[in-house]
Amino acid sequence: MKFSLIVAVGENNEIGKNNDLLWHLPRDMKFFRETTTGHIVVMGRKNWESIPEKFRPLRDRQNIMLTRNNSYEAKGAEVISSFSDIKAVIKDDSRTCFIIGGSQIYDLALEDGSVSEMYITHVHQSFDADTYFPEIDLSKWESETILSHEKDDKNPHSFTIKRYWK
Ligand SMILES: NC(=O)c1ccc[n+]([C@@H]2O[C@H](COP(=O)([O-])OP(=O)(O)OC[C@H]3O[C@@H](n4cnc5c(N)ncnc54)[C@H](OP(=O)(O)O)[C@@H]3O)[C@@H](O)[C@H]2O)c1
Repeated sequence: MKFSLIVAVGENNEIGKNNDLLWHLPRDMKFFRETTTGHIVVMGRKNWESIPEKFRPLRDRQNIMLTRNNSYEAKGAEVISSFSDIKAVIKDDSRTCFIIGGSQIYDLALEDGSVSEMYITHVHQSFDADTYFPEIDLSKWESETILSHEKDDKNPHSFTIKRYWK
């Protein structure tokens, strides 16, 4: 089972505020959708709740949601209560397991040590935020640039999408 992580960060590693994203970047959303479609997505309960009901579960993906609340019902998602349960739920699946956040779930995945690939969208601006991606020494990862996008009428900030792997 391959574990990848996908995230969009501002210049100070910020990822969210008030349980919402900090930007609206349709081109990055398209990349997220294309990259994760057909695979498995793992998210925290707060991230799940931040997705508008009409868009969840995320379409054409197996959705797994983490909560300590055993009675939580998330229609269309498998609810688990510890990170290690992921492996029991998906067993020897040939699909990639994408960790899609938020902050607490990125922490768990990176502590677990199973993530071998990361797709990071670097948004070239800083934002007022209350939620952050963990500090990582990216120089220890191989990397390639996948897409550099200037701001345009639909995407109000420029950004660069990079793939990192070990
Ligand atoms: N920029 C990006 O790429 C990106 C991506 C994703 C999310 N976000 C943003 O990130 C923010 C949400 O992140 P967050 O860190 O606040 O929340 P989160 O990671 O989405 O969810 C946290 C919840 O996960 C559950 N959880 C955490 N550790 C657990 C464990 N060890 N075992 C079982 N369950 C566990 C708990 O649920 P219970 O409280 O129910 O027990 C906890 O409250 C939002 O602002 C969202 O928009 C940004």
